[in-house]
Amino acid sequence: MKTIDIRKVRRDFPNLRVKVHGKPLVYFDNAATTFKPRPVIEAVAGYYQEYTSNVHRGIHELSEKATAAYEGARDKVQQFLNARGSKEIIFTRGTTESINLVAYSYGRHFLKSGDEILISEMEHHSNIVPWQMLCEEKGCVLKVIPFNDQGELSYEEFEKLLTAKTRLLSIVYISNSLGTVNPVKKMIKAAHGRGALVLVDAAQAVSHRAIDVQDLDCDFLAFSGHKLFGPTGTGVLYGKAQLLDAMPPFHGGGDMISSVTFQKTTYAALPYKFEAGTPHVAGVIGLGAAVDYVLSVGFNAIEGYEQKLLEYGTKALSAVPGLKLIGTAKEKVSILSFVLPNAHAHDIGTLVNDEGVAIRTGHHCTQPVMKHFGVPATSRASLTFYNTAEEIDALVKALRKVREVFS
Ligand code: ALA
Repeated sequence: MKTIDIRKVRRDFPNLRVKVHGKPLVYFDNAATTFKPRPVIEAVAGYYQEYTSNVHRGIHELSEKATAAYEGARDKVQQFLNARGSKEIIFTRGTTESINLVAYSYGRHFLKSGDEILISEMEHHSNIVPWQMLCEEKGCVLKVIPFNDQGELSYEEFEKLLTAKTRLLSIVYISNSLGTVNPVKKMIKAAHGRGALVLVDAAQAVSHRAIDVQDLDCDFLAFSGHKLFGPTGTGVLYGKAQLLDAMPPFHGGGDMISSVTFQKTTYAALPYKFEAGTPHVAGVIGLGAAVDYVLSVGFNAIEGYEQKLLEYGTKALSAVPGLKLIGTAKEKVSILSFVLPNAHAHDIGTLVNDEGVAIRTGHHCTQPVMKHFGVPATSRASLTFYNTAEEIDALVKALRKVREVFS
C-alpha cells in the first residue's frame, strides 16, 4: 500500500515555506482553500508564458495547443470521477456556480409548484440559498434532514422526509464545518427508489476521497478546483448526459451555440452548451495538473495518513482544558471545529495567527450548523495530507496561550 512521503510532499508546495510573524507557517485552512503544488503552478505559468490563446476558436498553433490542453484537462477530470464520457464534465467557476447551474437550468425548467427539494441541516450556504431562490420563484418546498449532536445525519428522518413529492435531493458528501462523511451512496439509492434525482456537493470530499460517479450513481456532482490543490475560479459540474442534454443552457453567449440568427439560435452539443464565453483556460489546465498530482500521491495513502492526523488531532485538542469539539461523527475527515469557553472564535484566530497558525473562524457559511450547536462561530482547523502531527502540536501550544489570556 502507498504511504505519504511527507518530506517530498511538503517540498512540492512552495507556499508551505512561508513564515508568519517570523514563525514557520502552520496552514490549517485547507477546507477554505488548499495550497498548490509546483506542477499546478508550472502548468498555469506555462500556459501564460508559452501558449496564451483562446480555445475552440483559432486554427493557429497556439490556440490548438491551448485547446488540446484545455480538453485534455476535461478528459483527466472525466477519468478522475469515472464519468462515462467527457461531455458529462462541465467546467464552471466552482461548486457554487455548479449548483446554481442545476438550480437555474434543471430547477426552473423541470420543477413546479409543490415539488419538494430535500437538503440537510449541515449544508453550506451554497447548497441552501440557490434552492430557496428556486422555491420562492417556482413554489417548490424545501425540506431539511436534521443531524444529531455528533453531527451525523438522521437516516430515519431522511427516510421519512423522502416522499413521492421529492424531486431532488441535494446533499453534501463531507461537511465543511463538521467534517462528517455522509452515507451518500445509500442515500442516492433511496432517493432514486422514490424517483428523485440527486446532486452531490463534493466540495470538501474531492480532496479526501476517491470519487466514482458511476459507483455512486449520482445524477449531478459539483466540486471546486481550488479545494483540490488547483487554481481558484475553476470548478466542475458532472451530470449524467441524458439529463444535461435535456436541460436548457444556463448562460448565453459565444462558444455555446451551433448557429445564431435573429430569428433562431441553436445550441452547441455537450459540454459546450454550458460553457458560454472564454473559459478560465489557464485555471482548467492547472486543474488538470492538480488531478494528476493528487492521483500520483494516491487516495489510499491520503486517506490513511489523514485518518492518523485526525486521531492525533482529536486527542491533542481534547486535552486542552475546556475545549469542546463541534462535530464528532464516527465517519469524519480531518476537519476539527471547536469552541473554547470565554473566548470568541475571532480572538482565538487572531491569537493563534500570532504564533504562525492559520485556522478559519466564523460560521463557515453554515449558519444553520452554528444554530444547531447554539454557538455564533467556531474555530476550525482543517488538515490535509501535507500537514503533520508537529503542526498539530504547534496549534495546541498556541491554544494553551489563548487559554491563559482568557482565563
Ligand atoms: N467553503 C469554504 C470553507 O469551508 C470557503 O471555508
